[in-house]
Amino acid sequence: PVLVVDYGAQYAQLIARRVREANVYSEIVPHTHTTAQLLAKNPAAIILSGGPSSVYAEGAPNVGADLFEAGIPVLGICYGFQAMAAALGGTVAKTGAREYGATHVTLTGESRSILAATPASQNTWMSHGDSVLEAPAGFDVLASSAGAPVAAFANEEKCLFGVQWHPEVKHSEFGQKVLENFLFNGAKLERNWTTGNILDEQVDRIREQIGDAQVICGLSGGVDSAVAAALVQRAVGDQLTCVFVNHGLLREGEAEQVELDFVASTGAKLYVANEQDRFLNALSGVSDPETKRKIIGREFIRAFEEAERAIMAEAASEGEEIKFLVQGTLYPDVVESGGGEGAANIKSHHNVGGLPEDLRFELVEPLRALFKDEVRAVGAQLGLPAEIVGRQPFPGPGLGIRIVGEITGERLELLRKADAIARAELTAAGLDNEVWQMPVVLLADVRSVGVMGDGRTYGHPIVLRPVSSEDAMTADWSRLPYDLLARISNRITNEVDGVNRVVLDVTSKPPGTIEWE
Ligand code: XMP
Repeated sequence: PVLVVDYGAQYAQLIARRVREANVYSEIVPHTHTTAQLLAKNPAAIILSGGPSSVYAEGAPNVGADLFEAGIPVLGICYGFQAMAAALGGTVAKTGAREYGATHVTLTGESRSILAATPASQNTWMSHGDSVLEAPAGFDVLASSAGAPVAAFANEEKCLFGVQWHPEVKHSEFGQKVLENFLFNGAKLERNWTTGNILDEQVDRIREQIGDAQVICGLSGGVDSAVAAALVQRAVGDQLTCVFVNHGLLREGEAEQVELDFVASTGAKLYVANEQDRFLNALSGVSDPETKRKIIGREFIRAFEEAERAIMAEAASEGEEIKFLVQGTLYPDVVESGGGEGAANIKSHHNVGGLPEDLRFELVEPLRALFKDEVRAVGAQLGLPAEIVGRQPFPGPGLGIRIVGEITGERLELLRKADAIARAELTAAGLDNEVWQMPVVLLADVRSVGVMGDGRTYGHPIVLRPVSSEDAMTADWSRLPYDLLARISNRITNEVDGVNRVVLDVTSKPPGTIEWE
């Protein structure tokens, strides 16, 4: 693999994703790994990420100079670039010329090296206080900026390179080119991480792990569980039974996507537990968001376990035993991060795919090495419908946390209609890719006066919450066109009984969260 050493900022995952976009497999490792530990992973190349420290600060993570003697191609980025410079005898100092954000760099000298086929003057994205003043002996200076006399360097002979800017960030115009120059010209790697290869490799692994045992997989309606199940189905066929607990909090058409489209496109065996009434009863009278989440989580586990027992009993009657459970864990959930201070608990995010801890089964996690975009690509390759693989994030507790107030069957019906209209209009406007997700929220505890056909109405507002985001950690409200908003508002107030206003949420995150509960 190409190892990305994480110096603690948020960039390591992005670097690993960009390397994989270039069809080269990469993994993230914490900066606490020693040179020996890094080499033990047999890296084809190493990328040192950016990070918040100053190389001369006390306790700053350092790079052993021995790493640069190991004959492995290395690219240092930002902090990694400075750490490389310092370790090899260059000069790094605080010049007072900090550069944050869009920064102009000019290529210098004769050698282009990893900047080959990029213009002599280009826009990059930087974030640094210290700068490299002098490159180590044996290095060519490739570029400079106003605040960084040495903004990029190379030692071709030793296959060591560095850039002050962040090539992994899209605002660096030629960033991907620089990374690819490093991977293919510098480190001479091959492009072999493709969707087809990922699929074949995972299928082999799953077969090896499961053998001829029986396996079950819970489907939530989301991308991850669908792709995980489809992969396992491709690997072991009818040894897999999928379980779909319908909690009645899904949006219009989503249960059908699982029960009809998923089954039609994969041929998987599906056990459906229709538990709509059970969830409605358990949630009756509850309006506190955290209590709703806990109840939904608890009932989900119970319902799943009941389904499990029914399937196990059936298997037992045929002399079979279920040994494995599929989980759609993704790579970002398992990365050992170099940053890692725990985030504050704002909401007890409950993932309805989440399962009991006293597991009787061995886990199968076929997506454990994959980023979300790779999961979608594998899903498409497996023939899953576009509505499933392209689905925007949807919270496990579903519409349950999009009704502010008590959840009732009637309110769910109303919200489902409003949500379907909003989604259909967004799609018709061709703007699905412009928004990260668009919660549609019913303020069930609020009423306002309206007028319709000369009569007074006293109905509920619907909130539209379209947001743009990279990872849901921060978000901004999407500037949807007024005429689209007008169409959605018009249709919802006309077509959904009980709703007489549509309002737009114009709050970023922070301070707002994406969901209302
Ligand atoms: P917030 O509202 O915290 O949401 O800004 C961030 C992302 O998480 C989703 N979300 C949830 N997902 N269970 C989930 O599986 C939950 O309880 C939950 N609450 C929020 C939300 O849709 C957004 O993508």
